[in-house]
Amino acid sequence: MTGENADGGNADGTSEGVVRRDRFSGGPARSFLSSLEADARIFEADLEVDRAHVVMLAECEIVESDVAGKILTALDAIEVEGHENLPDGEDVHEAIETAVIEQIGPDGGKMHTARSRNDEVATCIRYRLREDVLSAIETTLALREALLEVADEHAETTMPGYTHLQPAQPITVGHWALSYENAVRRDTARLLDAYGRINQSPLGGAAFAGTTFDIDRERTADLLGFDSVLENSMDASSSRDFLLETTQALSTLATTLSGLAEDVIIFANRGFVDLSDDYSSTSSIMPQKKNPDTLELVRAVAGDAAGEVQGLTTTLKGLPRAYNRDLQRATPHAWEAVDAVREATEVAAGAVSTADWNEAELADEAGAGFSTATGVADLLAENGLPFRTAHEVVARAAEVDTDDEFEAIEAAAAEVLGEPLESYVDPAAVEAALDPAESVASRDSQGGPAPSAVRDQLESGRQALKVDRTDRDALEDRLSSAHASLRQEVGEYV
Ligand code: ARG
Repeated sequence: MTGENADGGNADGTSEGVVRRDRFSGGPARSFLSSLEADARIFEADLEVDRAHVVMLAECEIVESDVAGKILTALDAIEVEGHENLPDGEDVHEAIETAVIEQIGPDGGKMHTARSRNDEVATCIRYRLREDVLSAIETTLALREALLEVADEHAETTMPGYTHLQPAQPITVGHWALSYENAVRRDTARLLDAYGRINQSPLGGAAFAGTTFDIDRERTADLLGFDSVLENSMDASSSRDFLLETTQALSTLATTLSGLAEDVIIFANRGFVDLSDDYSSTSSIMPQKKNPDTLELVRAVAGDAAGEVQGLTTTLKGLPRAYNRDLQRATPHAWEAVDAVREATEVAAGAVSTADWNEAELADEAGAGFSTATGVADLLAENGLPFRTAHEVVARAAEVDTDDEFEAIEAAAAEVLGEPLESYVDPAAVEAALDPAESVASRDSQGGPAPSAVRDQLESGRQALKVDRTDRDALEDRLSSAHASLRQEVGEYV
């Protein structure tokens, strides 16, 4: 094979598609080679990339203005016809070019001057992925908002906190909700960060080795709303690390969601939370069943997303420079991940915001399993006992099988310290430390579960949400205004 440069981007505008169809018209591997069906996802992106490229070619006097006008008119007609009516082709780029040539004749072949499908496809993927990542970010913002609302409503609701799934210390529902809000906040940040590297233009890199034409890469980047140009033409056309880091960020988000889903599934099992019917399912045989299926599916999406990361990494690993056709199979991993994770985030937000927290049940269980033990040990330590000794006293009390924890502590103190409890600490303070609500209220250190600390965290959560929302919306505005101004430029020719 002679490669893309030999039959693409010719000075006389000969159609690459036409040439290729003569020689490689399709043997048994035709459908194996083709990405046309999967390329439906980048149909609009490709038309937009074509428009920007043609406008730039005309501005740089590489293609005559009237020819540019004819090509741009044909592109509009092709958009109306839709992806499903494209002529056959190895991919959407070839099919659109063929359609342009069918409409306006050989001049249509000038569209592919000074570029290759290699920089073209890389540009289309980045173009489309920007929109998808912005809408995935939107779902993380909605989830954060839902978690903030739960935290606001339940800043004071005491609940059991667990480690190793064993009752550990009482907390508040607000504290639990904010623990996920904090994590999702970082997931938003990772996606925003990845967006910055998606939003760079490979267009003009050509097959990988640049072009003899005096093109203006900054101009096409700007027309398409990209922040900058990917400088090195070989890197521009062949690197896919932007796909990998985006899929990884999505997979990390999905992992956060899976923990959230698992918690709510367990809470539903314990009667702490009631999912709304909209986010539950039932059994086809057991009429009494109400199951948290939506959250189980959210939990499973983490596995899918991790699988996409694995597939993508394995495809990209060891690929030599520059373009290799393996890359065609890399792209769908990112689409799968972004679709699944976006939907899972949306569902998680809906399930969380419509769930009912059973405050009475939570309060009952908050002190179960002597979960206030740490607070009692802290109290003894505050009153002068070495923490290790205090721990020993409370640990002994915890071994006693009794409902009267105070009595057990008194007995353990007498045994370990050889003196009555009240000679170390006010018994009323011990009673208070044993109360789950008081125990929570006393843990008011920064970021802690006390209602006052939850209120402070709510404030920073709201502030961060506002900033991220503004940033995201500005990115979206930049895309829409690029789209509008490209429309206007096209209007000059058609
Ligand atoms: N459809 C291909 C892809 O998705 C782009 C075509 C580049 N083809 C080539 N033979 N250089 O990656």
